[in-house]
Amino acid sequence: MAEFLTDITTIRERARAEIEKGPITDAYGADLDRVIQVCNEALATELVCVLRYKRHYYTATGIQSEAVAQEFLEHAGEEQEHADKLAARIVQLGGEPDFNPDTLTKRSHSQYDASSGLIAMIKEDLVAERVAVATYTEIIQWLGDRDITTRRVFEELLAKEEEHADDMQSLLERIPATPPVPPAPPA
Ligand SMILES: [Fe+2]
Ligand SMILES: [Fe+2]
Repeated sequence: MAEFLTDITTIRERARAEIEKGPITDAYGADLDRVIQVCNEALATELVCVLRYKRHYYTATGIQSEAVAQEFLEHAGEEQEHADKLAARIVQLGGEPDFNPDTLTKRSHSQYDASSGLIAMIKEDLVAERVAVATYTEIIQWLGDRDITTRRVFEELLAKEEEHADDMQSLLERIPATPPVPPAPPA
């Protein structure tokens, strides 16, 4: 392991010189404006996911819908937590979290969906989760060791989105494409 060689006197001087930057020091190695922009795109993605899952939760109907709706509701809550984590990190980085509903879907990676069938809903949610998994993986690789804290936020989100995608896939496998025919009444 290489020796830890840092000029502590210089670090102390720099830390004192730019206190208005809060947690952002000279050691910050990423493109700050771009990181804030990427976090805002992810924030839009999470907010659209909250809305999509809520829409699915309140409109899921049919014999199979109860357990599925509960899953939609749970996911909506977790996407909201993700949005909150991203907004908090954007503020820490000195940026402004963008909650503007007018431009939300344009900034989001994933899409809103108003399907009426349960299977169509689950498929759309699975697609959205896969979009999130792919983009968050790329963001994590892009950040590397240049902004470790933001990377960890995305790592946490990525693990959850993979779980969500797995949940949706399991639901798809469990639900038959056509509802079961009720047994004929006894003759
Ligand atoms: Fe999420
Ligand atoms: Fe998700």
